Amino acid sequence: MKEKAVELNTKFKNSKPQEILEYFLDEYGYKAALSSSFGAEDQILTHMILDIDKKANIFTLDTGRLPPETYSVMDATNLKYGVKVNVFFPKTDEVEELYQIQGINGFYESIENRKKCCYIRKIAPLKRALSELDIWITGLRASQSVTREDLNVVEYDEANNVIKINPLLNWSEDDVWEFIKANKVPYNSLHDEGFPSIGCAPCTRAVESGADVRSGRWWWENPEHKECGLHIK
Ligand code: ADX
Ligand code: SF4
Repeated sequence: MKEKAVELNTKFKNSKPQEILEYFLDEYGYKAALSSSFGAEDQILTHMILDIDKKANIFTLDTGRLPPETYSVMDATNLKYGVKVNVFFPKTDEVEELYQIQGINGFYESIENRKKCCYIRKIAPLKRALSELDIWITGLRASQSVTREDLNVVEYDEANNVIKINPLLNWSEDDVWEFIKANKVPYNSLHDEGFPSIGCAPCTRAVESGADVRSGRWWWENPEHKECGLHIK
């Protein structure tokens, strides 16, 4: 799979997102899926994907700690496109145990606690979702953070044994908003309130305009640590 990813990256690294999506949806069908957090980039990909195939596989990870605005855009998306995005929830017994160990907001206390919470609420459900897939489509962009600068459009994700596709990798923030406005794509209202990147409610805050787009995520940690583990190579 690794060689295949390198080969496909050479083929698609300068292609338009729509061309990339068409190829993988056609080739892999339901074995290719977008993981959507309902952030701006994922909304663009949802729009493009459903334009290609109404029955395409799109899923979200509902951590149980998402802001109400995310549920609103999820609902608006399902209604607008006439779909029901698949949802993966964390395992009940694991969340109950986590609460017993670190309390309800234990993630503020240490990176270890935070990573444990992210693992139970996001990574384990993601692994369950990916175990059924060959192709994982994400909305990652290189300019989002220092941790994302050296990603490829197509790459092999060894930890999950899937080929990971990042069709918007080379898009700028301006490209994102131009597409959203031009195509009337529904988006999370928090983006208009200073939230360029949106995750769980207690771990996301608004940032000053012009600030690093992911600086409002786990703002109490150093930039090098600011990945929840979904996208660690
Ligand atoms: S995170 O790792 O910090 O949480 P970020 O919010 O930047 O990630 O989103 C990057 C990509 O990860 C999204 O485009 C999406 O593909 C995936 N992703 C992040 N959060 C979720 C989620 N809750 N459900 C599904 N996919 C997600
Ligand atoms: Fe838990 Fe915060 Fe990670 Fe969400 S982002 S899973 S609340 S630590």
